Amino acid sequence: MTKKITFHIQNGGQLSGTARVAGDKSMSHRAIMLGSLAQGVTHVTGFLEAEDALATLQAFRDMGVVIEQLGNGCVTIHGVGKHGLKAPSKPLYLGNSGTSMRLLSGLLAGQAFDCVLTGDESLSKRPMKRVTEPLASMGAVIHTTQSGTAPLHITGQAGKLHGMDYTMPMASAQVKSCLLLAGMYAQGQTTVTEPGPTRDHTERMLKGFGYPVTQMTNQASIHANGQLTACDIDVPSDISSAAFFLVGASIAPNSTVVLEHVGINPTRTGIIDILRLMGAHIDILNERVVGGEPVADLRVTSSELNGIAIPEHLVPLAIDEFPVLFIAAACAKGETRLTGAEELRVKESDRIQVMADGLQALGIDATATPDGMIIQGGTMGGGVIDSHGDHRIAMAFAIAGLRASAPIRILDCENVNTSFPSFKAIAVALGLNLTSQEEA
Ligand code: S3P
Repeated sequence: MTKKITFHIQNGGQLSGTARVAGDKSMSHRAIMLGSLAQGVTHVTGFLEAEDALATLQAFRDMGVVIEQLGNGCVTIHGVGKHGLKAPSKPLYLGNSGTSMRLLSGLLAGQAFDCVLTGDESLSKRPMKRVTEPLASMGAVIHTTQSGTAPLHITGQAGKLHGMDYTMPMASAQVKSCLLLAGMYAQGQTTVTEPGPTRDHTERMLKGFGYPVTQMTNQASIHANGQLTACDIDVPSDISSAAFFLVGASIAPNSTVVLEHVGINPTRTGIIDILRLMGAHIDILNERVVGGEPVADLRVTSSELNGIAIPEHLVPLAIDEFPVLFIAAACAKGETRLTGAEELRVKESDRIQVMADGLQALGIDATATPDGMIIQGGTMGGGVIDSHGDHRIAMAFAIAGLRASAPIRILDCENVNTSFPSFKAIAVALGLNLTSQEEA
């Protein structure tokens, strides 16, 4: 059994210094998937060595791909080609990772073998019909539980999938990516239309591997007539991990932090836009393009934040950053109102309810609504927070300690290792007064 980890935050302090946060999780998953299906040897640097991406790595090893972990974010993938995966001898265990399960369901639907996808308690509660239903329209055969959750039993339909035009009911990069990966094995063209822009790492990386993808506003198309050719991938730092320090250095007085080599793909920078609307001081320095993805250093200094109505078009562009944005809102002057974010209810936890409960426990006036939250900025006290095993909730409340008036204890923090195992070390180096305690 994994050890339970509790975070203890001594309140107050400031953040200062320079850090390079962990590699991008979305890109790390995709690098393993596409590198495995490529012809030739792919070298990845900056790979996120955290439980989620490692679950994907293990799944491909279980399907016969030789993947070397060389340490320090360096991974070498000996690609087996588009049709080279082998039947796994046991269910593929994907831990906490929704991205892994949803993308793999598409990629594996058209293989010449059957397989089963399983996950941990949180992943086993998350909705999978959003992928299995459109996949079924392409001819896939995938069984879920009665309530549409994992385990997913996939009966491979090699040569039998057909492309389709699909308009997604929600803005989801996971659903889009799942269908594009299925489209690599389908007859004819597969086109996915999204209600608003979502992260486009799949499309960019497919092109980087030489696979044709057509992109138009809110639409991507793919067909089976392509090959992936191995390439080198430099994964930038994850803006979703940088987000904790963007907020931390904004809310803690006398702080300046520089975050190096952060991915600033425009489908991911909602956090910067929202914080700037609230009055944050964030400078984007040394902009460059690395392997088809825009990258920059981000410098953030303390500021007085103001409450805002968060523009709904920014929601999908900051979808993973709301736990820490709610902390920013609690420290801001006036009211912050989030709407159009019902997707937060089906993340690793119900992030609307769990964050509202946690903020209330610290004495903040926070009201959960079906699709968002209304937060009145105020003074945060100390207290005990249940993170419900959600990595981003645990890290968000750790950052809250910078402005709380008393210590905060956060329960169930072991899943921080799914996305950002170096969080504690980096946070402490920058000045957060965080200690942790492990119990069997
Ligand atoms: C991800 C897409 C997002 C995000 C998740 C990673 C991806 O999920 O929340 O952490 O890598 O495609 P949705 O696409 O379901 O919103």
